[in-house]
Amino acid sequence: MRIDRIKIALVGCGSHASSILHTALGFLEDVEIVAVCDLDMERAIFAQKRFGLNQHYTDVDQMLSETSAEAALVVSPPHIQASLIKKCLLNNLNVYVEKPLAIDLEEAYELKELAEVNNLILTVGFNKRFSQYYNKVYEAIKSEKFEKPSMIYMKFAGGYRPKTWDLLTVGSIHMFDIAKHFIGEIDEIYANMHKIEEGKANISVSLKFKSGAVGVFVLGSTGFWSVKGGEYIEIIGDRNCISLDNATKFYWQKPTPIDKDGGSSHQALKEIPSSAEVMEPNYMNVSNIEMHSFVMNGYYGALKNFVQNIRDQKQTSPCADDAIYALKTALAIQKSIEIGQSVKISEMHR
Ligand SMILES: NC(=O)c1ccc[n+]([C@@H]2O[C@H](COP(=O)([O-])OP(=O)(O)OC[C@H]3O[C@@H](n4cnc5c(N)ncnc54)[C@H](O)[C@@H]3O)[C@@H](O)[C@H]2O)c1
Repeated sequence: MRIDRIKIALVGCGSHASSILHTALGFLEDVEIVAVCDLDMERAIFAQKRFGLNQHYTDVDQMLSETSAEAALVVSPPHIQASLIKKCLLNNLNVYVEKPLAIDLEEAYELKELAEVNNLILTVGFNKRFSQYYNKVYEAIKSEKFEKPSMIYMKFAGGYRPKTWDLLTVGSIHMFDIAKHFIGEIDEIYANMHKIEEGKANISVSLKFKSGAVGVFVLGSTGFWSVKGGEYIEIIGDRNCISLDNATKFYWQKPTPIDKDGGSSHQALKEIPSSAEVMEPNYMNVSNIEMHSFVMNGYYGALKNFVQNIRDQKQTSPCADDAIYALKTALAIQKSIEIGQSVKISEMHR
């Protein structure tokens, strides 16, 4: 059966959009790119040629007034995304926006309400939720064998930032969303920062989750994005330990056999060491779509989910509520650093 293709306009055709998202869009059969816009004319022309269009735009208002589309993909500098999303929603377009939705809570709530009032889908690009490796972690920690997660350690690097707080509101925002997705809502945080200069800082955060679990975020912008463990998570259940290294290396150390003669004055239980389960990507079968980085990192799945939401007229996660929660986490960390005290996420209001 042939279905009508969803018409999409592209707002912002910079580095991330052109290398990752536009490539992923090319693999979606049921979408059609009908217009492209970037302030930078060369980038707009590149996208125009790529999608076989007759023209390009450098002015978003002009594009929106002359284009008949059902959806927009907004991939622009983080600090102006909210204003571009608003224009698209006011033009009755469903929106997929790369994270962050906004860097200001008031703006984030305004966009959520605008989308809801107009029955429009507003999807936020928390692509990690669609990564097969992150999903493997999710399945594992929800399985009975894992027991309840009781501790989480998350590390996120990402290089120098234009502004110090961008490490929280733009970069680590991914991890705040994943922490909630995996463990549940955070109750209280306490954070410390070592700032070297504007845009270069390291932040450690102690976490208490509503479930009773505890955890730590280790966030750094001091230029160690590409190192092993630049993005790393470890989750402990009872005698279970799962880790995911750089979003691709998954290890599961399951409960080990117990040494019957074990136990001592300083250990309640002695275990017999055993091996961990390891899952590694295999890039040999590169013609399969599953083997492409934009699929493994979740971008393809995130876009597919957005298109399906439009077809079903049903909003699923990751949505504005998820982005608002992640932003509250970022702002609570910032506040804790500023006042030198612990902060409850529930204190963060619009
Ligand atoms: N999910 C992820 O893993 C991930 C990865 C990288 C970037 N991102 C997000 O993607 C966004 C873009 O990042 P990037 O690295 O491509 O940045 P970039 O600076 O390369 O691209 C931004 C583009 O937006 C264009 N632009 C600016 N104002 C515009 C306007 N008013 N109208 C139309 N175009 C405009 C710029 O000319 C530029 O080409 C950021 O918000 C970033 O947070 C997400």
